[in-house]
Amino acid sequence: MKTSSAGTAGRLIDEIMGYRKAKVLMVAAYLGLFERLESPRTAGEVARLQRLDARAVEILLDALVAMNYVRKQGARYCNAPVSRRHLVPGRPGYMGDNLKYQEIIWDAWGELRQCVKKGGAVRPLEYWLVKHGGFTQEYIRGMDNIARGPAAEIAAALDPSSVRDMLDVGAGPGTYSLAFLRGNPALRATLLDLPSTLKVTRRMLDAHPGLRARAALKSGDYRRADFGRAAYDLILLSHITHDESPAVNRSLLLRSRRALRPGGRVVIHDFMLEPDRATPAFGALFSVHMLAYTEAGRTYTADEYKAWLRRAGFTSIVRRPIAAAARNSSEILVATNPA
Ligand SMILES: C[S@@+](CC[C@H](N)C(=O)[O-])C[C@H]1O[C@@H](n2cnc3c(N)ncnc32)[C@H](O)[C@@H]1O
Repeated sequence: MKTSSAGTAGRLIDEIMGYRKAKVLMVAAYLGLFERLESPRTAGEVARLQRLDARAVEILLDALVAMNYVRKQGARYCNAPVSRRHLVPGRPGYMGDNLKYQEIIWDAWGELRQCVKKGGAVRPLEYWLVKHGGFTQEYIRGMDNIARGPAAEIAAALDPSSVRDMLDVGAGPGTYSLAFLRGNPALRATLLDLPSTLKVTRRMLDAHPGLRARAALKSGDYRRADFGRAAYDLILLSHITHDESPAVNRSLLLRSRRALRPGGRVVIHDFMLEPDRATPAFGALFSVHMLAYTEAGRTYTADEYKAWLRRAGFTSIVRRPIAAAARNSSEILVATNPA
């Protein structure tokens, strides 16, 4: 059946509306509007509490009403159930830190035109992590918002009772290490990350005093660091390989293999593409996200990861979906050090 011109133009307008909706949500989260809408308030009241402009807050809140994130009765606004569940700090399903991180990284997307000419980010990840004050905290807390479910699933799938020592490379908030530490009271985790990130990691781990003593924080650059020799049973590379070039990823896997005990496992956890590189859609668009703020990162295919694993000497590669029902589902590849 032929689609009418009005139908295809409508689709284009819907896509363009996408960026407007995204920006309204991210800015509202960043400015703390949802915290103020747990009880009904006028735009003027919210503006006073958050030191914002009343006319502008009214415009933003009306857009959020149109998007079904906020309800309006007379002149008063309050959170819709979806906002109460995901956008109010302290709720178990809180995703507001992730939206705040997306709001900051929006500036990198603003440079996408130049990135396409240049072939990589105008300002690489290091700029955002080290030089852009405030970014690291939102970035790392934002990772935790989306990691809790997958972390529990991965730990359950890999049987933490078989692990004594693990290395979490680019550990960020430490959510994955925490899931393993919960699964085995004898397990020790080493969390490797940049010093700027570890300041946030330390604060986040302090919220888990029962597990904290078995987590060692190691400051270093994973592109160069020597991971050691036969020191670990499990090495986790969770959501770091998409930030890096194929050459860095091959080097990470070689150093991981040397650092694993015989029979030890390396785990790559990431968004992975099918060979067409366009499926699933989340992965294809995530690759553009990497183009916007990394020098050489992208979403890789599972076949590329498998080839790098084999080249590094790993065997028995097993692929498994994670959070399969989620729109941003990911995968793990688990490979064994045979030596
Ligand atoms: C996308 S986050 C992933 C965090 C965590 N592994 C997870 O899955 O939730 C990437 C992490 O890599 C860290 N990172 C980036 N470049 C690094 C480098 N050169 N050396 C060490 N860590 C780095 C960042 O600080 C951040 O914590």
